[in-house]
Amino acid sequence: MQRICHLKPEALSLPPGASESPSCQRRHTLPASEFRCLTLEDAVSVFEIEREAFISVSGICPLYLEEIRHFLTLCPELSLGWFEEGRLVAFIIGSLWDEERLTQESLRLHRPGGHVAHLHVLAVHHTFRQQGKGSILLWRYLHHLGGQRAVRRAVLMCEEALVPFYEKFGFQAVGPCAITVGSLTFTELQCSLRGQAFLRRNSGC
Ligand SMILES: CC(C)(COP(=O)(O)OP(=O)(O)OC[C@H]1O[C@@H](n2cnc3c(N)ncnc32)[C@H](O)[C@@H]1OP(=O)(O)O)[C@@H](O)C(=O)NCCC(=O)NCCS
Repeated sequence: MQRICHLKPEALSLPPGASESPSCQRRHTLPASEFRCLTLEDAVSVFEIEREAFISVSGICPLYLEEIRHFLTLCPELSLGWFEEGRLVAFIIGSLWDEERLTQESLRLHRPGGHVAHLHVLAVHHTFRQQGKGSILLWRYLHHLGGQRAVRRAVLMCEEALVPFYEKFGFQAVGPCAITVGSLTFTELQCSLRGQAFLRRNSGC
């Protein structure tokens, strides 16, 4: 049975000089570039990016609006958004998992006692793709996870074509994923968050 846990977003630790502000802070002008955990108020913007990135391509998407709201309620500290002048341009949504491999259940559950961060979705707004944003956001996200003691590993599933992209970040393919969505099949990848160089150095973003 799913356990429900309301957790507070943790402050992100960003390199000095990076634009950073808690969502509750009042600003007179919108920051040019900002990274922060997502809130429920961001759910519609997240879904709009997903609609273009996934639904328009395959008719389905990793998280529908209610699922986005579900994870942003249960575990906002496992999400990260990139905003430019207040507009969401890229995001990652994750939750905790507590088994060695992903199962169909992991698509909709957050297991608060788990030590594995399950990355449900990474997407970049189409007008901002191929500019390095997806890579920078993923580095920052892994760095952010590295600061969360409970999280020992990151796991995700992706289509075969994207395996080389994730391998650049230390993810290793562990085989076909047990999860299928319609006729789509996926490769499962894992990345250890212990002893990784990116946790010790500034990732340069
Ligand atoms: C995949 C995605 C997150 C990458 O973000 P990005 O900002 O465009 O990527 P970057 O500019 O940081 O890096 C570009 C690299 O991404 C990889 N890449 C991007 N889209 C790809 C695709 N459709 N197939 C395979 N590789 C892809 C390539 O390695 C590319 O490098 P190259 O141009 O030298 O081949 C982005 O393209 C996106 O949002 N796609 C739609 C949603 C999606 O598929 N998300 C992943 C779900 S697992």
